[in-house]
Amino acid sequence: MTKLNTDALHAMDRAHLFHPSTHMRQHADGETPNRIITGGQGVYIEDAEGKRLLDAFAGLYCVNIGYGRQEMAEAIYEQAKNLCYYHSYVGHGSEPAILLSEKIIGMAPKGMSRVYYGMSGSDANETQIKLVWYYNNMLDRPEKKKIISRWRGYHGSGVMTGSLTGLEVFHKAFDLPRNPILHTVCPHYYRHAEPGMSETDFSDWCANQLERLVLDEGPETVAAFIGEPVMGTGGLIPPPEGYWDKIQAVLDKYEVLLIADEVVTAFGRVGTPFASHRYNIRPDLITIAKGLTSAYLPLSGVIVSDDVWEVLETGSDKLGPIGHGWTYSAHPLCAASGLKNLEIIENEKLIENTADVGDYFQKRMHETFDDHPIVGEVRGVGLLGALEFAKSKERLEPFDAELKVAPRVANAVAERGVIARAMPHADIVGYAPPLVLTREQADKIVDSSKQAVDAVAKEIGV
Ligand SMILES: Cc1ncc(COP(=O)(O)O)c(C=O)c1O
Repeated sequence: MTKLNTDALHAMDRAHLFHPSTHMRQHADGETPNRIITGGQGVYIEDAEGKRLLDAFAGLYCVNIGYGRQEMAEAIYEQAKNLCYYHSYVGHGSEPAILLSEKIIGMAPKGMSRVYYGMSGSDANETQIKLVWYYNNMLDRPEKKKIISRWRGYHGSGVMTGSLTGLEVFHKAFDLPRNPILHTVCPHYYRHAEPGMSETDFSDWCANQLERLVLDEGPETVAAFIGEPVMGTGGLIPPPEGYWDKIQAVLDKYEVLLIADEVVTAFGRVGTPFASHRYNIRPDLITIAKGLTSAYLPLSGVIVSDDVWEVLETGSDKLGPIGHGWTYSAHPLCAASGLKNLEIIENEKLIENTADVGDYFQKRMHETFDDHPIVGEVRGVGLLGALEFAKSKERLEPFDAELKVAPRVANAVAERGVIARAMPHADIVGYAPPLVLTREQADKIVDSSKQAVDAVAKEIGV
């Protein structure tokens, strides 16, 4: 790409492209960077300035098999030549969609039955809400409709899914959250535990808070609880010890369905096929997206358990065909890319690689940053990790927001050839590299981060 081309592209971008999660005015006026990505190979991407960067966030934690896989391009091309599209309404199907559904059910936790497809994590969670409501209507429980999510949870940015999301920045000036969405406490031990509380005590406290909310609202009105097994966009927070067992006990007691939002964690990210396997979660419904196709094409899904399916099925006898559908549900090209992606994950043992390199990465992050003067907490599991910055570990005192510590660290890491993500909430830098990562590449991420954090500490005078 020539310089002239790049300049013209920047001008057109600033004039016409409406970017998500971007300062609109500053971008339009050219005050913030406009990075144009031109290519990707393995764990690396390249930008229009010719800079090569190790993408330690796999796009938006989605390019799990790495960039530039020819097999993926070929699988999509072959499917497009053969059958580019047919809908899946009124019982129509295509071979890749059928095979993919069988494959997903085979990988998912036990007791799962069917997959409904969408294009994004947000639309899949919209489907979840509708299915939960439909389910309770079929059980003659018209009052049981409230859905509990958690502060700092992330479940999308539609009207209802933006309401499920527990981050203020996704609510402000959008008139969200909407009824009947409620939020319970965020299970972040480091931030919210009282002094002297063990992790297990803290999990008890989280479960008690949930139970109190259910009782205050009336269990006959609470339909479902949605949670990411490991919190993602809210700060990459693994659950505290015993958390999921205790939460599930409350949900079982009050017949509240559990939706595991595995958009980030499914297909290997935490070293097991689903994070539900790792934490012994028994979901009624599971949301998948991102790692399903490694983002070669957009595809999401709602996995429905046998028990929920049994109830949903009765709906058609009462009401006729289910009144829910997207034009692109089970799109053959997306399904073909999902199928090839899962084949690559299996053949290259990428889940095993994530368990192995993930443990190594976590160990190196702790060795490098546990005692660093500006790092409050080092956390993570598998190939998901975070550094949270704080003035002091004991008092958890945050830095002045004006200092923008996390964005500065992310910029300093990028200057050293690695992309880490300044998360949208608090002073947190996140890591979620492709699952093809090697130990040497993990070293590069940790070493570049160390140099960057040291440089920022110096800049802010610590
Ligand atoms: C856990 C989780 N759920 C849902 C979503 C929404 O997915 P999408 O951006 O594809 O709508 C995301 C996106 O990051 C996510 O992390």
